[in-house]
Amino acid sequence: MPQCPIPAELVALLADTHHVMVLTGAGVSAESGVPTFRDAQTGLWERFRAEDLATAEAFRNDPYTVWSWYEWRRDLVGRVAPNAGHVALAALAVQVPRLTLVTQNVDGLHRRAGSDDLIEFHGNLFENHCLDCGLPAPDVARPCPAPPRCAACGEFVRPGVVWFGEAIPAGLLPRALDAADDCGVFLSVGTSAMVQPAAGLAQRAMQSGATLVEVNPQPTELSELADYVLRANSGVALPALVAALRARRDAGAV
Ligand code: OAD
Repeated sequence: MPQCPIPAELVALLADTHHVMVLTGAGVSAESGVPTFRDAQTGLWERFRAEDLATAEAFRNDPYTVWSWYEWRRDLVGRVAPNAGHVALAALAVQVPRLTLVTQNVDGLHRRAGSDDLIEFHGNLFENHCLDCGLPAPDVARPCPAPPRCAACGEFVRPGVVWFGEAIPAGLLPRALDAADDCGVFLSVGTSAMVQPAAGLAQRAMQSGATLVEVNPQPTELSELADYVLRANSGVALPALVAALRARRDAGAV
């Protein structure tokens, strides 16, 4: 069974902090079978062009192709389950006084693992809305091979994800920035930390004095800044972290 040693000082910091902030990226869902974006060979952006599939312009040019790519991703995500990393983060939330979970993932796996209080920074694959008037379209049947039309204005309905060049959904960036300013420990999990504004949250937290912890089997640009690096898959490192915290509490450490 893979192991991930957790430094005792890190466990003590987690036990003492008033607020843990976690930012997750595609890597946290990799062990569920959801491809990441930038991993060599398996990453989605290694196989597909983001310009053709993840911009509003691409959708206007070819709504059928873009919609069917998101249908493929919905189908894929619908056939997998949350992994031990997702479950560990849901467990961590009840072990610390406050936990803010921000995810860049649109797969809904954190919620399925029990993390209800969640900031979905890049939206959600399963929540659609009108391309022009923005009206939510909650009743899109699945599977849905072609983009439906908006009930109000007749324009195409689009996937409720944030595309390149678009803003983070209303209100979520200020919430995340406030959390970054307040947290004592910031966990950056399974993200290459290359896409803004999510990537800037770790530095923001550090500037406010937080301890930065990276969980990633590969180095990223954050690695050199991090106070602790858990060089392991999140499905291994996060359960180990939660178990170490629980063991410390069970041992009655103050
Ligand atoms: P990336 O694909 O850029 O990065 C995934 C990270 O996960 C890499 O650093 C991997 O080393 C790491 N990783 C792989 N397997 C892992 C595992 N089992 N456990 C932990 N880490 C693992 O994905 P993101 O950083 O999420 O945006 O990408 C950010 C954004 O770029 C996405 O939300 C998406 C994409 O374009 C939009 O679509 C707007």
